[in-house]
Amino acid sequence: MGAKWLKNAVFYEIYPQSFCDSNGDGIGDINGIISKLDYIKDLGCNALWINPCYDSPFKDAGYDVRDYKKVAPRYGTNEDLYRLFDEAHKKGIHVLLDLVPGHTSEEHAWFRESQKAERNEYSDRYIWTDFWLHGAAGMPYIGGESERNACYVLNFFKCQPALNYGFLHPTESWQFSMNHPVALQTREAIKDVMRFWLSHGCDGFRVDMANSLVKGDDEKKSGTSMIWRDVRRMLDLEFPDAAMVSEWSNPKQALRAGFDMDFYLNYGGINGYCTLMRDYYDNEHDASYFKKDAGGNINRFLGQYLDWYEDTKELGYISLLTCNHDTTRARANLEPNELKLAYAFIFTMPGVPFLYYGDEIGMRFLDVPTKEGGYTRTGSRTPMQWNHEKNLGFSTADPDKIYLPVDSAEDAPTVADQMADPDSLLNTVKAVLALRQKEEDLQADAEFSVVCSEPGKPFVYRRGHLLLAVNPTGQELSLEIPSGKRMNIFRIGKGEFHHGKLIMGPQSFLVVR
Ligand code: NOJ
Repeated sequence: MGAKWLKNAVFYEIYPQSFCDSNGDGIGDINGIISKLDYIKDLGCNALWINPCYDSPFKDAGYDVRDYKKVAPRYGTNEDLYRLFDEAHKKGIHVLLDLVPGHTSEEHAWFRESQKAERNEYSDRYIWTDFWLHGAAGMPYIGGESERNACYVLNFFKCQPALNYGFLHPTESWQFSMNHPVALQTREAIKDVMRFWLSHGCDGFRVDMANSLVKGDDEKKSGTSMIWRDVRRMLDLEFPDAAMVSEWSNPKQALRAGFDMDFYLNYGGINGYCTLMRDYYDNEHDASYFKKDAGGNINRFLGQYLDWYEDTKELGYISLLTCNHDTTRARANLEPNELKLAYAFIFTMPGVPFLYYGDEIGMRFLDVPTKEGGYTRTGSRTPMQWNHEKNLGFSTADPDKIYLPVDSAEDAPTVADQMADPDSLLNTVKAVLALRQKEEDLQADAEFSVVCSEPGKPFVYRRGHLLLAVNPTGQELSLEIPSGKRMNIFRIGKGEFHHGKLIMGPQSFLVVR
């Protein structure tokens, strides 16, 4: 089951633009990240995922890669990134980079070559039709932009032409089969990018739109999965400790395709994950489970999760996350006391959890104009709030020169304030993560089962020998559990287990051994 170090891994996601600006130019950088490694370690995270930090025109915040092997000058140099790997490793922190295999920027040298009328090595690196008036049915495409007499297929925004991995069932003369040499060349080119960073010390990849490689009729993603299994074979041989986490949100497919972890994302309207903290998506009445007295029901989460978990627990991990750079910060909807319970739950479930920078202090979702293709996502991408110095400690640049504005509220949460408050969200996160490190039964692959998920009762689950209970409501809830002698080892709020009776005060979380 993948890289062994994942067993006790807790990830911290860094949006490099907004984390820490070390040279005062208004944008975060690699040296800024290096300067905060001790903070991240002290928080209890031992792994990083860094969003794309490669050379890019930044029409999609760096997910439009112009050069896969070059750090964007605004973040520093390749040497800075190699030093980050080194410094992180010295502190026991693993580092995942973001791999964007489905598309490049339209400014990537491969695409510039591919657009030329004259045939060359890169002509088939992207998906092109055979005539300037021929579109690609069922796929977004662009015509009229190149000297080449054809249209090209997009993977996401207009600036992101789709790389050509071939088709499982080619139906048009311009579609190649998956094992055609041109399709295999694309695959090898991406492996080459992976080898490049892995051999410089990175520990693996978060894979962007991992399910998007094969276009057209890719039955149950079988073509795309075949490619990832091939990549996995390469990793197993050459970099056996490398880890991959997929943006797929279908662990049954992703873990069978060779990923170690798959994110459980807020995809497809209200799914199980959304019902925990963001039930308001598409929903008039917000019944998020962790929203106090909103009438939430954990079974809306468990219904989907348990099926996935049971089916995949021998294959790899489902990754629960506090948020990511595409998702509205949970603080938009939940108060810090509610977040404490939500995070305690996320960090004590099976699999490998991810904490999005700033969530540990409950950073708000800000109402800011779109930046670099962020649109409604931009409000989750604002600068980290360290202290009450200029720009809340993010940067020494003039406030009108920084990447995005910082939270201007008087009570904007900061790391410095919360470090000093034993009861803060930050200190609660630290305590829960310290417990996870100490108790093997709370780590990625320790056994998990549900003890009670009945509405009106505390939600109780077992991890190995431990019993965990959550009460997100404003009322005291209790439950009889036949059991031998037990010891309460961790609590948020008032909760206790005594003589077979669990009594959970309002908004509480308890761990019992
Ligand atoms: C998913 C990434 O998380 C998102 O930020 C990006 O815009 C798209 N993929 C396209 O790469």
